[in-house]
Amino acid sequence: MTRDTTAQVARFWNDIAWEFDSIYSGANKNAFSRALDRFFRKDIYQRFDWVMAKCGDLRGKTICDIGCGSGRFVTEFAKRGAAQVTGVDVAPKMLRLARDLVEQDGVAERCDFVLNDVLNWTPDRTFDTTIAIGFWDYIADPLERLLLIRGFTRGTFLSAWPRFWTWRMPVRKARLQYIQGCPVYFFRQSTVHRLLESAGFEVLSSETVGKLRCVVARPK
Ligand SMILES: C[S@@+](CC[C@H](N)C(=O)[O-])C[C@H]1O[C@@H](n2cnc3c(N)ncnc32)[C@H](O)[C@@H]1O
Repeated sequence: MTRDTTAQVARFWNDIAWEFDSIYSGANKNAFSRALDRFFRKDIYQRFDWVMAKCGDLRGKTICDIGCGSGRFVTEFAKRGAAQVTGVDVAPKMLRLARDLVEQDGVAERCDFVLNDVLNWTPDRTFDTTIAIGFWDYIADPLERLLLIRGFTRGTFLSAWPRFWTWRMPVRKARLQYIQGCPVYFFRQSTVHRLLESAGFEVLSSETVGKLRCVVARPK
């Protein structure tokens, strides 16, 4: 049986919520730090652009963002006309940032947030689109959560998976898991496709985006 590390992961992200969001906002960073982010954290910008390119016309749609963090995707979806966007995350400070952001952007009335692991969450509705970006990195055994996501997704599922054996894999494993105490996992393309298919999704497209595998899927 896989050990449940959610509490450890939640603590880690809670502690660095503001620091993580500053990769997007550039807050309190000089030009050099921002340039370092653009080089070393390039995946974060690339996966954002990938989602926005793939999500299509969102007007009137309902969207769920699993592991929504500081709400950067949530607010963008709402600004693009989504009817309702639900962000789910286990880190309270991430959700506080997300609530402030949607408030600031004037879209709070179409956004809601759930402090929970998808594993313990039973939504009372289904969603046109679900995303899980920068999330699978922290999940040892994705199938259980994928099955639940499949249950409440009626349209598109966009997911990004950290690829096995890129140069960043040993660096992240050492830094995040062994130094900072946040377990991190990596996935081969065949594993990602098998997991999605076992959960009842059909893979529509699958591409390499930097050090990630980005997949568009839909319920079979
Ligand atoms: C790298 S951040 C990504 C945030 C956002 N998706 C983005 O790309 O900007 C990972 C987020 O996943 C959340 N997370 C990790 N494991 C989770 C779980 N089991 N359930 C819900 N959220 C989780 C963390 O709290 C953190 O906010």
